[in-house]
Amino acid sequence: MSVRRLDPVQPDSFVFSAENMAFAKKTIAQYPSGKQASAVIALLWRAQEQNAGWLSRPAMEYVGAMLDMSFIRVYEVATFYTMFQLSPVGKIAHVQVCGTTPCMLRGANDLKKVCQSKIGAPHHVSADGKFSWEEVECLGACVNAPMVQIHKETYEDLTPESLTKLLEDLEAGRSVKSGPQNGRQLSAPEGGPQTLTDPELYKGPRKFTRIEAAPPPPPPAPAATAPAPKGSK
Ligand code: FES
Repeated sequence: MSVRRLDPVQPDSFVFSAENMAFAKKTIAQYPSGKQASAVIALLWRAQEQNAGWLSRPAMEYVGAMLDMSFIRVYEVATFYTMFQLSPVGKIAHVQVCGTTPCMLRGANDLKKVCQSKIGAPHHVSADGKFSWEEVECLGACVNAPMVQIHKETYEDLTPESLTKLLEDLEAGRSVKSGPQNGRQLSAPEGGPQTLTDPELYKGPRKFTRIEAAPPPPPPAPAATAPAPKGSK
């Protein structure tokens, strides 16, 4: 991980393309009046896509002005989420390697070594401008650890060999498939089903018996109060 700061070299300006402007207007219109700032992540993402994969300061301020947000609020969002890149990234791919505990226990350190050897130091674009990489926190695919995210896609159940192949395929312009890279079906158990495997379970009509919970016992009767002694008030 690293301190997330805006890049020291910034372009002069940023303007949405006609297509992204239409997207921005449609997205903003989904929120009630006065709550348009809720569109900030969607608009920053579009700005990043348009800006070769990273967010420049003019792009953040453009989005802030569009949403009537103070620029510091936009910087807070952009610098908090690692989905936003604050410096130029590789033209082909910026590889985000999850290094959090489940991925680390399943081999993330070996994936980082692949990136180090094929791309170079983290947070730097490779000499040929094609790739960059960084370590990030959990990307929410722990069941398929270890994994990486490239742009919007995740590549899971990786080994050093499959990650190497993935990078080579991307570089060569070959199509790649996102998701598990070891043949696993989504997040199903590796090697196929591990439970409810008896075929008898699936033969013939299936009959279900509803079992109702017993009603709760009635509350205890209130204790009888003794009559007041004579002469007392
Ligand atoms: S720990 Fe890597 S995806 Fe959650």
